[in-house]
Amino acid sequence: PAAGPLAGRHALVTSGPTHEPIDPVRYIANRSSGKQGHAIAAALAALGARVTLVAGPVTLPDPPGVTTLHVESAREMLAACEAALPADIAIMAAAVADWRVAREATQKLKKEPGAEAPTLSMALNPDILATISHHARRPRLVIGFAAETEHVVEHAIAKRARKGCDWILANDVSGDVMGGDSNRIHLITAEGVEDWPEMSKGNVAQRLAQRVTDATD
Ligand code: C5P
Repeated sequence: PAAGPLAGRHALVTSGPTHEPIDPVRYIANRSSGKQGHAIAAALAALGARVTLVAGPVTLPDPPGVTTLHVESAREMLAACEAALPADIAIMAAAVADWRVAREATQKLKKEPGAEAPTLSMALNPDILATISHHARRPRLVIGFAAETEHVVEHAIAKRARKGCDWILANDVSGDVMGGDSNRIHLITAEGVEDWPEMSKGNVAQRLAQRVTDATD
């Protein structure tokens, strides 16, 4: 068994984008790299937690010492998260697609000569963070992210209440945070707002893992 302050704890982490299929060869995606979520999974494991990482399609290697489950779509990500419960801690860092294509085509859509471009009809995806926050087997500490391009803290405070999670890590993604190596975080809790200086995603992960350790002691 692992040693460290989080030994005996199970942490569930989501990371990366989701891919929402259009047809067997096409999908809708976003620019998430998975760097922050993967770093969080590694930092929790380094403190002794048993970590289940549910990862969307990323080019990163699986973090060592972490059980990594690979999924593509939001619905697959939710199913993998629910199957991984119970957990003591959940940190939802994935950039889950808000919408999926309502009817995935079973055959490749064909470009017929003279035909018009197809129209994609979209359906709402489940909100994994909100679902886990209201789950019968809710982890004791549920943490989400809020990527915003304006009114970062105000939007994140509202999001924390709406989603039902304990903490939100808010970050401004108007720069090159998505895919970049550093992050500037505002930690929103029931107690208030804490502004962290800009730091690498690895350092954000370590600082968060330490806060999680203090909060679940
Ligand atoms: O609503 P918004 O996408 O800004 O919320 C971001 C937070 O919610 C992140 O923690 C993200 O992982 C999570 N989320 C989710 N499932 C969704 C949408 C967002 O878990 N369908």
